[in-house]
Amino acid sequence: MDGKPLDNDLSGVVEADRAHVWHHLVQHAGWTGPEPKSDPRIIVEGKGMRVWDQHGKEHLDAVSGGVWTVNVGYGRERIANAVRDQLIKLNYFAGTAGSIPGAQFSEKLISKMPGMSRVYFTNSGTEANEKAFKMVRQIAHKRHGGRKHKILYRDRDYHGSSIAAISAGGQDQRGLQYGPFTPGFVRVPHCMEYRAQWDLTGEEYGQRAADAIEEVILAEGPDTVGALCLEPVTAGGGVIVPPPGYWPRVQEICRKYDILLHIDEVVCGVGRTGTEWFGYQHYGIEPDFVTMAKGVASGYAAIACCVTNEKVFDMFHEHPEDPLDYFRDISTFGGCTAGPAAALENMAIIEEEGLLENTTAMGDYMLDRLHALKDKHAVIGDVRGKGLFLGAELVADRASKEPAEEKMVQAVAADCNAQGVIIGVMNRSVPGLNNTLCYSPALIATRDDIDQIVEATDKALTKVFG
Ligand SMILES: Cc1ncc(COP(=O)(O)O)c(C=O)c1O
Repeated sequence: MDGKPLDNDLSGVVEADRAHVWHHLVQHAGWTGPEPKSDPRIIVEGKGMRVWDQHGKEHLDAVSGGVWTVNVGYGRERIANAVRDQLIKLNYFAGTAGSIPGAQFSEKLISKMPGMSRVYFTNSGTEANEKAFKMVRQIAHKRHGGRKHKILYRDRDYHGSSIAAISAGGQDQRGLQYGPFTPGFVRVPHCMEYRAQWDLTGEEYGQRAADAIEEVILAEGPDTVGALCLEPVTAGGGVIVPPPGYWPRVQEICRKYDILLHIDEVVCGVGRTGTEWFGYQHYGIEPDFVTMAKGVASGYAAIACCVTNEKVFDMFHEHPEDPLDYFRDISTFGGCTAGPAAALENMAIIEEEGLLENTTAMGDYMLDRLHALKDKHAVIGDVRGKGLFLGAELVADRASKEPAEEKMVQAVAADCNAQGVIIGVMNRSVPGLNNTLCYSPALIATRDDIDQIVEATDKALTKVFG
């Protein structure tokens, strides 16, 4: 809407929303009752890096649609056109059959993922992870008499919102009140050097954190562990970039104990970390499963993928005469053609506009600016990130690293918001440690956009912490 105020009165929409929409991750109390304290926010329109709300107020979106999704920015007509054309031609057929965009997108995606070969379409990150979990369980039954069924996950990681995915979740607050959980998921320690569990630094810390995974495997019994599921860079758990030395050891351990490696690229995937298409590709890892969702079509259509290598795929057609010997799974909306049609255009935009390179350059610039902010504000204990995927952890005391009070961290995000810059903040995730501000602007971000984001944060920190 080019910054012009809205002509239309949207109060009816606000009231309909207040009365009937159950928002995600939100306490509704402030919006309801005879005298509501505030209105739900309605996002009406988006263009590039910016969105406009029901009041016509412009916001610079530093979180790509709130949850690391709109990687190529808003208002991309060519994606809309590709989706429209495809919907008119064929909107849907179940994934038992193929589709033209499904095959073309798979080929394109795999061309960016050496070592991987098969794309299983689903419609959310949770579901993509669930598919990988099911494949691991089925492999355990087919090959190991059901024994090698345990799936390891890491403290502070997140893999989705279903009961099974929460069972594989390392963010304890997300699980509160939702148990009992699915058995067979086992936690390994996090690898966040800023809050190190061992008195080591750099590569030594990284190797130690990976060794801790091996300790869990040995305690559980290697013949019971089927897979290890990790985020390449932990997102909602506090933007945790694994230290040097970590990934080579992780890969070594998986090979040693014949454990399948599942990398959850739901946030990092499709350019977010810069230079490479996927986060794991920075570290030379050879995964067995790669799951992805948010940035795959930048939110222009719902699409998620569970990608496997041929080794995994081959395990599902060894005995065709056995009626159970294939992946007996379906995702109804995995057959929607809008997803791969949008995803193909999304990848083309990233290539044609050099967005992987822009992400690296702008990510480095933003990291430098956040470091400068840390020099100015003692409340910033740590700044970290990769590409346009950054976090600033706030502490009450730098020496003790006591986390800043959650309410005050939230107040910083709220103040940025009032200034017209939407930033993220850890939300009911890690008990006592929801103290990291999160940034994930679209991959099209410019220096001016980043300056605006950092300056809003600077002002908000001054206001909230003095
Ligand atoms: C790393 C990671 N995995 C999985 C998911 C779940 O994705 P979805 O919300 O599409 O189910 C998320 C969502 O934030 C995520 O951050």
